[in-house]
Parts: sequence; C-alpha cells; structure tokens
Amino acid sequence: MNSPDGQADPYPLLGELRSKGDVVPAPWGGAYFVTGFDACNQVLRGREWLAPDFAWQERQAHTERWEAPATQEMTKTLSRLNAPEHTCQRRSLGNLFDRSTIERMTPDVDRDVTRLLDDLAERLRAGPADFAETVSEQLPISTVGSWLSLPPEDYPHLLEITHDQVYAQELLPSRSQLAVSAEATIRLRAYFTELIRQRRATPGDDVLSGWIRTWDELEPDREAADEVLYRLTMFITIASLETTATLLSSVVWHLLEEPSRWTWLRENPEHIDAAIDEALRYDPPIHINTRVAADDTVLAGVPVAKDSMVHVMYGAANHDPRRNPDPYTFDILRAGTHLTFGGGAHYCLGAALARLETRSMLTQLLRRFPTLRAVSPPVFASRMVFRRVTSLSVAI
Ligand code: HEM
Repeated sequence: MNSPDGQADPYPLLGELRSKGDVVPAPWGGAYFVTGFDACNQVLRGREWLAPDFAWQERQAHTERWEAPATQEMTKTLSRLNAPEHTCQRRSLGNLFDRSTIERMTPDVDRDVTRLLDDLAERLRAGPADFAETVSEQLPISTVGSWLSLPPEDYPHLLEITHDQVYAQELLPSRSQLAVSAEATIRLRAYFTELIRQRRATPGDDVLSGWIRTWDELEPDREAADEVLYRLTMFITIASLETTATLLSSVVWHLLEEPSRWTWLRENPEHIDAAIDEALRYDPPIHINTRVAADDTVLAGVPVAKDSMVHVMYGAANHDPRRNPDPYTFDILRAGTHLTFGGGAHYCLGAALARLETRSMLTQLLRRFPTLRAVSPPVFASRMVFRRVTSLSVAI
C-alpha cells in the first residue's frame, strides 16, 4: 500500500485483505486488521475496545515506537484518551460545529473559497495548475485559522509541521520518520503554548478565549489547565488540516475522472452533499484507526486476547459489498454508508466543518469552471494511515 500504485488505488489490496476474513491477524503478531464493515463498526462503538492510552503503552515491551517523543505527545491527545479523562475533555468542548456555528461560519468559508478560486482561475489562464496546492491545502488552514483567530502569516509554518508530525501516527513508522515527527512535535508545542500565553494576555470573545475560561473553572491549577488547552488546540488544528485537504482533492478527482459526472453534478447541484458522501465512502482520508482489546474477547468469531491491537481499516470497511453493493463503482446516488468519520465516543468533532468546506468549494467550482479537467491522476504521499494528495494537476 505504500508504493505509488498502492497509494493511487489501494482498494484492490484492501479487498484482497477482506477476502481473508473480517478479522485478519497481522504478520507481526499481537495485532489484527479489521476489514468487515460490521466488525469495524463494533470496534468503534463497543465499550470493550479502548484507545491505546498510556496505561496500555506501559504494558507493552519498551520499544522505540512507544517511547518516541512524538508518539508520547500524541498519546496525550483526545484521540488516545479513554473515559473518564476523554469524556471530561470532550464535554468541555461541547458540540464545536453545531448548526448555528456552521451557519455563522458559512459566509467566511464562502469568501475564502472565492478568493482561492480567483487564484486558481489566474493560474489556469497560464496553463495547468495544481489544485491540491492552490485550493485543497489552503482552504482548511484558512478556515480553522480564522475560527481560532490565528495570524494568517503563521499558516505556512503550521502546514509544514502538521505534514511532518503525522509520521508518528503511521502504522509502522521508521526511525527516520519518528525523528522528523519528534522535531515537528517540539515546534507544535512551542507554537501552541505561546498562542495560549498570548491569548491569556489579551482575551477576547473568540473560541480559544472561551476554552481558556472553561478550563480555568474546571482545573484550579493554571499550569495543568494550560497543558490541556495546548493539547486540545494543537490536536484540533492538526486533525482538521490534512484530512479535509485530502477530501477536497479526492472529491474533485473522482468527479473529473469521469467527465460525465462533472457535467451531471453541474446540472444537478442538489446532489452535491451526496457526491461528498460518496467521496468520503470511496476514498476515506484516514485509512487506519487503532483500538486495543480491554479484555479477552471474540470479534467476528476470532478470539482476540486482552491488549491486542485491532486496526480498523476504513477503506476496506467502506467497500464491504455486504454493506455497499457494487462497492468499486463511484455512484453519487447510492445513498451508501461509511465509517470515514469514525464512530462512538471518538466520533470526529469536525465532520460538519469538513462537509461545509467541501460543499462550499464544490458549489463554486462547478459553477465557475464548467470545462475543468484533470490533466493526470493525483499523486499521493507514501503513507498508510493518513492519505495525502500532494498534487492534482487540472486545466480548463
Ligand atoms: C474529511 C475530513 C475529516 C476526516 C475524514 C476526519 C476523520 C476523523 C476520524 C476517522 C476520527 C477518529 C474517530 C474515531 O476514533 O472513531 C476523527 C477524530 C477527530 N477529528 Fe476528524 N476528520 C476530519 C476533519 C476534521 C476537522 C475539520 C476537525 C476539526 C476542526 C477534526 C477534529 C477531530 C478531532 C478533535 C477528533 C478526535 C475526537 C476524539 O477522539 O474524541 N476532524 N476524525
């Protein structure tokens, strides 16, 4: 899956894995790939499956992987916490993107999209342009940046460290990848602790100032409150960037791949939301999520010992023909189901925002660029867990 061909189309490989069973032992032992939709759903929602937290890590052999600074730092974030700490931190945030927040944010997102598409139009006048670089990479940082009131001049720095940090979350990161992540981790901590210090000095009615007020009430120890605030703000920011950027590029690619889809959606824009969901199903930006067994258990008929890792394979689950018939056909009107935003207690906090950005981008793109075409298929970074489109060349 790490090869260029595997990245371009991992689905035959994932289908092959699923054909070996809903739960397939990993060759290195102590871990399983979960491929069937129902089994993945059960892991994501069941109380007998936990996030691999510090308590679990301490019971593992002391390997470079678990002791690496970037891994340790990630283990402190929301996605790796279990109840009661996880419940307390999630409650402190509330429903970040409820309907009224999304409505309030819509005009700003629409304006950002217009600005980015103006830039795309300018570039396209001179020849093919890179959609990933010009639009997909820029919209998520611009959206989350203005939501958190971050200075726009910091955006390139944040994008760079996010791309570097992500290696620590790979399935089997190499020593050199862990070193790149370690460096990025230091820079992320420096950036977000300074941000919180500054926001404390000049509080306002922005989102982050609100979190500071909440945590000052929940946690009397100021240092401990700032530590949680750093972790939350850092993690929410990095969780929002590559994921959404990949969705933006992938939905455009899947529509342009078959030009009749582009034309059809232009004529039937009421199906834009359905097209977004089909792109989420077909090509999930995150391919693997890991949980561990809280106790000895049985999953889809396979005995799984306490503490074993189970890797939820979103791409395999979404293509399970028992859930989505004819799964390898990109069908905007299929009304299928997917697990792309996860499920249960850790369900993605930013799903509504990612949908808003994609809807706004597609609505304007279809209207403004009727003859848009892909010059070549997208190029992907060599990753297993977080898919990333590094370029998508388009022309008019
Ligand atoms: C297409 C874009 C996105 C995709 C595919 C995506 C996918 C996911 C997935 C698979 C999870 C893990 C769910 C689980 O463990 O069951 C997750 C968690 C999370 N996502 Fe997203 N995400 C996206 C965009 C965003 C955005 C825009 C934000 C924030 C603005 C965000 C914030 C988070 C946070 C904070 C968590 C951790 C939740 C927890 O552990 O309680 N995500 N996301």
